[in-house]
Amino acid sequence: MHAVDTVNKEPAYLRLANTLERLIATRSMRPGDRMPSVRQFSRQQRVSVPTALQAYATLEVRGLIEARPRSGFYVRWRRADATPEPRMRARSAPRAVVPRDADPVEALLTDHANGDLVPLGAAIPAPSLLPGAKLARIMSTISRDLGADCVAYDVAPGALALRRELSRRSLDWGCAIPADDFLVTVGATEALSLALRVTCKPGDTVLVESPTYFGLAGMFRDLQLKALPVPVHAADGIDLEVLQRLLRGTRVAACVVIPNFHNPVGCLMPDEHKRQLVALCARRAIPLIEDDTYADLQHDGPRPQSLKAFGDPDGVILCGSYSKKLAPGFRIGYLAAGRWQARARALKQTSTLVGALLPALVIAEFLKNGGYDRYLRSVRQAYRQQVARMTEAVIESFPAGIRLSRPKGGFLLWCELPETVDAVKLATEARAAGISIAPGPMFSPAGGLRNFIRINCGHPWDARVERAVGILGHLARDSRCAV
Ligand SMILES: Cc1ncc(COP(=O)(O)O)c(C=O)c1O
Repeated sequence: MHAVDTVNKEPAYLRLANTLERLIATRSMRPGDRMPSVRQFSRQQRVSVPTALQAYATLEVRGLIEARPRSGFYVRWRRADATPEPRMRARSAPRAVVPRDADPVEALLTDHANGDLVPLGAAIPAPSLLPGAKLARIMSTISRDLGADCVAYDVAPGALALRRELSRRSLDWGCAIPADDFLVTVGATEALSLALRVTCKPGDTVLVESPTYFGLAGMFRDLQLKALPVPVHAADGIDLEVLQRLLRGTRVAACVVIPNFHNPVGCLMPDEHKRQLVALCARRAIPLIEDDTYADLQHDGPRPQSLKAFGDPDGVILCGSYSKKLAPGFRIGYLAAGRWQARARALKQTSTLVGALLPALVIAEFLKNGGYDRYLRSVRQAYRQQVARMTEAVIESFPAGIRLSRPKGGFLLWCELPETVDAVKLATEARAAGISIAPGPMFSPAGGLRNFIRINCGHPWDARVERAVGILGHLARDSRCAV
């Protein structure tokens, strides 16, 4: 039996290993540093020598430290530290275009549902990491309490119990959004679509990040909007200089960004950039649409703040959902559209009219009493480790010259391949070999990103995933996947 920490209810060795991992991840302990001896560490932490040893063994298995004969334990040099981040260059003169039609989004989701394929494509976490059993128990209790009403519509603005929880949590996002200022939506998808519909009309130009979430491309086509792409840097998000330059020369109806754990890059926009972005848009009265879908999934530190915290909150339209965090199939999202809220509520009538009451109440109850914060602590750690394992495995298997993002949250890894590799051909060959991945062009609002791929790290590391990464590395060298 391992000693158990009675406060955290996890074995003491695991708590210690996680603490040390955090010190290594934040580079407080750097590659090459010597660890305290096992005895010393056991004395420092008031644990037994076997517990300290077990903590070190866990870090060894995670590839974070190594034992050197007769010398002790050292923080390992990880190749991830030496692998550069993907480059994002602005095209010489970015042009506004309506995104092209053929997009493989549906195929990506179908592939994800196909159990024969290793799911490295769609950005969906493994069900085993989500609290499905707990949500099912809550659902059965609530249905019993509601009786016949459990099949009811959820009429706009949506279940008050959920909006109250969102309001309470908004304090943690650096905001204080009243429950009445939220509209419950069918996923972040409906929230984004409403945000675009309330701010734009056909023919308008919208600033978007490149790369960006591919779901936007379909919405732009449907609404006949032109996307004006601004490059996203792997380290700190949207390029504010390019954005400022474009704003000088173009009339823009809105700007859509994913500041917190960007899809597909995983980056986090620094607070100072958030402040500047909000100010830039406010000065020109440009509505700023914020997609906050991944924001609770930071790998470390506090939850990043919403753009609403950095200026007039009414000028920022906040879109989010619990799809990546709790239950993709419940389709529970939300919109806090500031000065456009009343119009968004009216427009919802022609998109989905109403929502489903039961899932909204279940999510509300989980947020209130179901241990959401405890659950988040464990899932964040899982994603951090899965991204780290995937990063090491990709570096090991892929051709020299690749560049990888260093996600600060979420479970997506963005990879720039050598320019000789065609990511769409790679995705086709990978599929034939039983692996789903997402090729770069899907994330490009205006074409390009031909030699990039996104890898979903939302599944626990196992032999199947490891083998798949080896095959991908092999295919990336194969002439069938060459440009
Ligand atoms: C950045 C981003 N926004 C929005 C969505 C859509 O989310 P939902 O499933 O809540 O509609 C996704 C889903 O992949 C996403 O990655």
